[in-house]
Amino acid sequence: MHTNLINGEWVDASEAQELRNPSDLDEVVGVYAIGNREHADTAISAARHAARGWARSGIQLRCDALDTIGTELLVRREELGALLSREEGKTLAEGIGEFTRAGHIFKFHAQQALRAQGELVPSVRPGLHVEVTREPVGVAGLITPWNFPVAIPAWKIAPALACGNTVVFKPAEFAPASAWALAEIIHRSGLPAGVFNLVMGRGQEVGRAIAEDPRVNALSFTGSAATGQRLAVTAAHQLKRVQLEMGGKNPLVVLDDADLQQAVDCAVQSAFFSTGQRCTAASRLIVTAGIYARFRDALLERTRSLRVGHALVKTTQIGPVANAAQLDTNLRYLDIGRQEGASLACGGDRPTLPTRGHYLSPAVFVDCDNAMRICQEEIFGPVAALIHARDAEHALELANATAFGLSAGVCTSSLHLAQHFKRELRAGMVMVNAPTAGVDYHVPFGGTLGSSFGPREQGTHAREFFTQTKTTYVNA
Ligand code: UN1
Repeated sequence: MHTNLINGEWVDASEAQELRNPSDLDEVVGVYAIGNREHADTAISAARHAARGWARSGIQLRCDALDTIGTELLVRREELGALLSREEGKTLAEGIGEFTRAGHIFKFHAQQALRAQGELVPSVRPGLHVEVTREPVGVAGLITPWNFPVAIPAWKIAPALACGNTVVFKPAEFAPASAWALAEIIHRSGLPAGVFNLVMGRGQEVGRAIAEDPRVNALSFTGSAATGQRLAVTAAHQLKRVQLEMGGKNPLVVLDDADLQQAVDCAVQSAFFSTGQRCTAASRLIVTAGIYARFRDALLERTRSLRVGHALVKTTQIGPVANAAQLDTNLRYLDIGRQEGASLACGGDRPTLPTRGHYLSPAVFVDCDNAMRICQEEIFGPVAALIHARDAEHALELANATAFGLSAGVCTSSLHLAQHFKRELRAGMVMVNAPTAGVDYHVPFGGTLGSSFGPREQGTHAREFFTQTKTTYVNA
């Protein structure tokens, strides 16, 4: 059994789960512990206990440890990428790509550890001077989703440690294997006991225990909007620092003057790769009148040609849905779309393949109304809605008519229109002639409105959340 890592020791649990491969439900990927409140409690105590020493640890030690972790992730990316594909269902190329990204993230933050800076400024009072420094926050509670089982943990854990915080990490119950492999690598990297702790388990029990414990100083969560809002309330009661990255209903706008092939590529990649299970996925394709029919036909042709299959089969482009609960949600939304009067032009069926898995073919609803539930609620599956817009201004208005604001794309060959959309799209990330999903690790990541709350993640901005400033006045 793969167990929890608490205070530098592997700790057994009385409960465990057999993790199944969503590409082949007859295959057991491994047996993983399901931790409980007590595990969370001991892990938090250990992290609390280790916090002072780690905050004062040398930056070279932090840099070396993070760099060692990054190197091993990169060296083992093929093996670990296959594990990720077996537990989550994304294709092997995507699984390897995700471990590569995680390796780069650790190496980036290894260098960030060396770049801690402060300010030394004169005081307005003669004789004094002022120092502005950044200090770690303390214990960071990190809760992550199943759709990026190693990249999202990496982009929370690496900056948390680089900034001198200790960590209690709870990965998604549905995808603990990549997280466990990452924890095992971190365990061997030379960190003192208690600096990094892994507690696998249910959100309701372990996640909740981490969120509610006053000894956890900062809580960073990626997952559903409903859970995020609950965590924000819990954190507010304790005045705990909180960072939330939740859903999206991201638009990709295709304007009359777009390069058709490029626009179709962006749409297919944004809507269906990683089986649509990305909070940055484009689920609303908003297309202006002059290109609508041509775009629709080309999109349907491309979508029908996508090869759905076992994640480890080389020719597969779209892996299975990650778990049974998500498949149910997708099927429910396909029904909702039909009931709302949207027309399902392709996909949405369950292909029969050599192995028994959660397969679903990519679905396109055409002639949708932006007010429909399938255009307003995050589905998190391979389901796209095509929405007709009269012109560019109408497209912009529709793109912004959403409760979310994570990522938004526009396909156009006009510099003027690209500029206009860059300015006016209400989203944390804007993509011009590029997919809405698939982001760089060295620049800020996050959204507006209902998508995100708190300081940005990733890149140099990650330190905003994982440090607090201290202002020191010195009379000398
Ligand atoms: C990406 O698009 O490269 O849960 C990353 C998610 C996001 C990560 C998206 N937090 O899908």
